[in-house]
Amino acid sequence: MRIIKNIGSLVGIVPPEVRRKVGARMNEVASIRDAYLTIEGDTIKDFGHSSECPEVGSSDEVIDAVGGMVMPMFCDAHTHICYAGSREQEFIDKINGLSYEEIAARGGGILNSADLLHATSEDDLYSQTMERVREMIGKGTGAIEIKSGYGLTTEDELKMLRVIKRVKETSPAIIKSTFLGAHAVGRAFSGRQEEYVDLVCEEMIPAVASQGLAEYVDVFCDEGFFTPEQTARILETGVNHGLIPKIHANELSCSGGVQVGVAHGALSVDHLERTGEAEIEALEGSLTMPTMLPGSSFFLGLPYGKAKDFINSGLGIALASDYNPGSSPSGDMRFVMALGCIKMRLTPEQAFNACTLNSAYAMGVSDIAGSITKGKRANLLITKPLSSIASIAYNYLTPFIRQIII
Ligand code: NIG
Ligand code: FE
Repeated sequence: MRIIKNIGSLVGIVPPEVRRKVGARMNEVASIRDAYLTIEGDTIKDFGHSSECPEVGSSDEVIDAVGGMVMPMFCDAHTHICYAGSREQEFIDKINGLSYEEIAARGGGILNSADLLHATSEDDLYSQTMERVREMIGKGTGAIEIKSGYGLTTEDELKMLRVIKRVKETSPAIIKSTFLGAHAVGRAFSGRQEEYVDLVCEEMIPAVASQGLAEYVDVFCDEGFFTPEQTARILETGVNHGLIPKIHANELSCSGGVQVGVAHGALSVDHLERTGEAEIEALEGSLTMPTMLPGSSFFLGLPYGKAKDFINSGLGIALASDYNPGSSPSGDMRFVMALGCIKMRLTPEQAFNACTLNSAYAMGVSDIAGSITKGKRANLLITKPLSSIASIAYNYLTPFIRQIII
């Protein structure tokens, strides 16, 4: 057994039956001051006030938290970290005034990443992806959803998903895999979008499902990408093959994607930079987690999602990094939490829940991650002494992690 002692405050305690926080509950973060926590194997065994700490046995290992905070590692429910190279030239194009849509319309953007990925070996792609996983773990993330979507041919989509599977088998982080063949229309299908959708439904999804390479199916349902009708067809096909829908929607326009996602039982609907009453109404009463990606609003200069409106309507929200080479080249969930507070006016408690339990829910792992709960995976951060969780977001560039347990 491992015993963490001298915990200044143990934060993010959640009862086992609570799998997400919605509405006013998003403002609650339960904690114990002056605490201990025990770990058996890879699991949280027990915790409580220091006065109840069990005797240290000869085979036990003691970890001294030195008065720091202990919290669950962040969960990142939306990333595209399986990519090759980078897109620095487009970064410069953006500085010089081109928009994300203009870059994509010129054949850059996602198609540029698809060309790079095609020319990269599976081993090299694995190394590049693992380097990003290690970077994210070092910044406090313990669970990562990773999407395909830079293949855009059956062969290259399967290549990406095999790499993600290998990451899942070899990384200490909890990994979930999402098939995003409908991220853009592959070059060979330029001008033949319907035929590309046929390929996704008739060839890619059956191959992905039969090889057990993904848990989720995702579509980029937005202006200039896939329509709500095409999205519905792809999600239905995915569901028929045992994949659970997640979706990209309302980034570039009010796409109707939220409604399509909810109608198909999506676990999460993601982006949501542009939403109104209709999106909130569609989400009310559903099990779908709206997931906002402030890192891409920051990088692309887009509006930030109206998280407060969602919460005031009684909904929960999750935050994720969207780590990818085109719209959010960072997987730093602490920065995401800070953007949640600074740009979306979330309270530190709301942002904390959005980056831990609710993001775990949005990637289907809130039964094993995202909170301090007996029986959950002991993926924990020991922080330097902090006065409150607000300082994680407030001092957003000051290193705050003392030790990572994963
Ligand atoms: O979530 N919006 C679509 N897909 C990614 C960006 C992918 C890219 O530009 O490479 C996103 O922002
Ligand atoms: Fe994305």
